[in-house]
Amino acid sequence: MNIIKVKNYDEMSRKAAEMIIEKVRRTPSINLGLATGGTPVGLYGQLVQDHQKNGTSYKKVQTFNLDEYIGLSYDNPNSYRYFMNEQLFNFIDICPGNTHVPLGNTKDPQQECADYEALLKKHGGVDLQILGIGSNGHIGFNEPGTSFQSETHIIELTESTREANARFFNSMDEVPTHAITMGIASIMRSKEILLLISGEKKSDALTQLLQGEVNENFPASILKTHPCVTIIADEAALGKV
Ligand code: GLP
Repeated sequence: MNIIKVKNYDEMSRKAAEMIIEKVRRTPSINLGLATGGTPVGLYGQLVQDHQKNGTSYKKVQTFNLDEYIGLSYDNPNSYRYFMNEQLFNFIDICPGNTHVPLGNTKDPQQECADYEALLKKHGGVDLQILGIGSNGHIGFNEPGTSFQSETHIIELTESTREANARFFNSMDEVPTHAITMGIASIMRSKEILLLISGEKKSDALTQLLQGEVNENFPASILKTHPCVTIIADEAALGKV
């Protein structure tokens, strides 16, 4: 894993944006894997700014999001589909039909998982996957203990993940208990992975990732076996390394 050390969140966001913009310009039909959460918000802001200023085009880009809460419809402000529209898609020239997020309020989540995995394969997989990391080492919503062989599946969220994400909801009761997430195997098929880590709250996770063993109890540890991973981490996250 290649580590780029940066000063703070803003520098992490700018660096990540530079890398993505360069790739989108070089390969206009790139398949981007996208993440949600607080971590990539600055990055998406940078992509929007660059699109408005320099005209980087996303007309031919396809995007695939990692995950979605089960039970939330696309127009629920806490759904990841809504988040992506608000943070990125509404402000760049991407074709809405080229943006893929698992459907959270489907009657048959199991079928949705199979369909999403098939969609990924139909498009030839993800070229560049953006990832954040949960404090417990989750990637996407793959909680500790998830099989490294897993494809897109339904996951029961841990209490710690629900608590960490409760800040986006009115109350803890509103935080969904389950989600659809790309599996570890689905993520690992991506040709290249860019992991963003910022803030002191993530320093234990980053230390564990760098110094711990590859183990299903710490899902992100699998990234050590991927041939092409770049981590952009800021000083606060690197504090304990
Ligand atoms: C969420 C998302 C992950 C994200 C992680 C960290 O649960 N499903 O994709 O990487 O939590 O979130 P944050 O960036 O807000 O710390």
